[in-house]
Amino acid sequence: MDTLNQASELLRSGGLVAFPTETVYGLGARADRPEAAARIFQAKNRPSFDPLIVHFPDLELATRWAVFDDRARRLARRFWPGPLTLVLPRTMHEGTPRIPDLVTSGLDSVGVRVPDQPLALELLRRADVPVAAPSANPFGYVSPTTAEHVRQGLGSRVDLILDGGPCAVGVESTIVDLCGDHPRLLRPGGLARELLEDELGCPLEYGGFAPPVRTEAPGMLESHYAPGVPVEIFEDPSHLHARANALHGRCVLLSERGLEGIPCLDSIAMGEGPAMAVSLFATLRRLDNPVHERILALLPAPQGLGLAVRDRLFRAAKSRLGAAHPIG
Ligand code: TXA
Ligand code: MG
Repeated sequence: MDTLNQASELLRSGGLVAFPTETVYGLGARADRPEAAARIFQAKNRPSFDPLIVHFPDLELATRWAVFDDRARRLARRFWPGPLTLVLPRTMHEGTPRIPDLVTSGLDSVGVRVPDQPLALELLRRADVPVAAPSANPFGYVSPTTAEHVRQGLGSRVDLILDGGPCAVGVESTIVDLCGDHPRLLRPGGLARELLEDELGCPLEYGGFAPPVRTEAPGMLESHYAPGVPVEIFEDPSHLHARANALHGRCVLLSERGLEGIPCLDSIAMGEGPAMAVSLFATLRRLDNPVHERILALLPAPQGLGLAVRDRLFRAAKSRLGAAHPIG
């Protein structure tokens, strides 16, 4: 049996399959069977109040599980398959929601998306069931962008890992909530905010990065997208320079264009916008070695994919303060 058939059979029978998407690798299970989806939360150590995104091979199938209004259809037609998740009302069947509470954390809405990755689309087509999939990493750690990252983080906790090579986008999907009158940006991601606003013809409401809040259960959510080596973020290169001096150069620098003349162990030029996004998580993982002591990152401007990169760097850094983050 070929691997794709094996993977789709595993999904159908309630198993856990990690698969590539264009954003990050996902940890998939049937979304219509609570006992299958429950395995995702166990494998990731994910708290049950963090809802999962449900994946489909096309818009047509997604409309059976979520209610699409005109705006939702417009965005789906223009940007699917692609790095966009739409939060929409759940559809009902004989008085019960089709997507169970466990997947939506009890919300009446569900996040749905059609990924732009050929292996993922073929898997979803063959499985012919809605597939819940968060990023395939232990809760709180940096998301995986290669099959090897998944193996390192979850290994034997997954029934099968499909290898589709490195992810083309590198940061998670952009999440837009269309349940209210005003479309809201819940998470900046692989699809630029400007393109969405252009198609909608109105601005997206966006709260930005929530200020750190201490949780009732300290330790629960204290790290997110966070490597073990502390990350510090800077808007201004001169402040970064001063910090590197204070650290006597025992730090690695991350920036779009590269920083010169600053004492450091290494200065990594990541490229602008999509280039910085595509290698961000792999770079954070590679640098996650105590010899680096500190990662100092110069934030990109909040335009295009820069907004998503800022958000992930913010989370990687703020998490050291014990902040609570609602986004997985
Ligand atoms: O790119 C992606 O979106 C990847 C790939 C695998 O598709 N998935 C992903 O899933 O990033 P995850 O679990 O790491 O992030 C899902 C986030 C949740 O933490 C939550 O913030 C939001 O999506 N979400 C899901 N359903 C929601 C809902 N009904 N209402 C509000 N937010 C929701
Ligand atoms: Mg995640």
